[in-house]
Amino acid sequence: MAELFDNYRDNYRDVVQSSIDFSGLSHSFFMRAKADLLRELIAGRLGAEKPAMLDVGCGVGSLHPMLRGIVGRLSGIDVSLESILQARADNPDGDYRAFDGNSFPFDDASFDLVTAICVLHHVAPTARGRLVNEMRRVARPGGLVCIIEHNPFNPLTRLAVARCEFDRDAILLGAGNARRLLAGSGLRETGASHFLLLPWATKPARRIEGALSKIPLGAQYAAFGTA
Ligand SMILES: C[S@@+](CC[C@H](N)C(=O)[O-])C[C@H]1O[C@@H](n2cnc3c(N)ncnc32)[C@H](O)[C@@H]1O
Repeated sequence: MAELFDNYRDNYRDVVQSSIDFSGLSHSFFMRAKADLLRELIAGRLGAEKPAMLDVGCGVGSLHPMLRGIVGRLSGIDVSLESILQARADNPDGDYRAFDGNSFPFDDASFDLVTAICVLHHVAPTARGRLVNEMRRVARPGGLVCIIEHNPFNPLTRLAVARCEFDRDAILLGAGNARRLLAGSGLRETGASHFLLLPWATKPARRIEGALSKIPLGAQYAAFGTA
């Protein structure tokens, strides 16, 4: 079956960029913030150096070059075969596999870190629990499952979503909802951190964002739990 994101293999980054042009910020600014957040989560919650990571709904793998040196073995799956082919072409070190939308093509407990980044708002609310259950299944005991999503309470996020042509099907979910999905799949010690509040990547800006991360102000959030 042709998937929506098959149509964006060649211009995924350009379409995202045009939806956020109004902010004066680049797509790579947002990607860098996600990579920095994952580095902090790995250091603070995982205690594993260079964890084996599965990125569910990895798309064309645009974040993956920024994860070099942060993670070890990197796998990605997506329901869009065209996106997977592009991710493979751009990241020859990665292990990319098409996903049939049901069971992940990996054994139980295969990864230290399992992420889904800006994926769940494209998944029907009734199907989200099953996807998160699969994420927990392939995370090793003590491993981390992390959902990164748009913060529906941020008006600029809402504007970017409204301007993005592939977000017409999007149903946003807040951090509380994401944490309930994680807890419902059996993950422990769930938490959430909002980020992308300020338009700078400086250390002082990141410190301020860190201090305010429990308040749903930032453009995106990470919700996480331990397997
Ligand atoms: C907005 S893109 C995000 C891509 C990538 N995670 C990123 O942040 O650049 C959403 C991706 O989720 C994928 N997707 C949607 N539903 C999915 C599902 N049920 N399982 C796996 N991937 C899915 C889409 O094909 C698409 O590549």
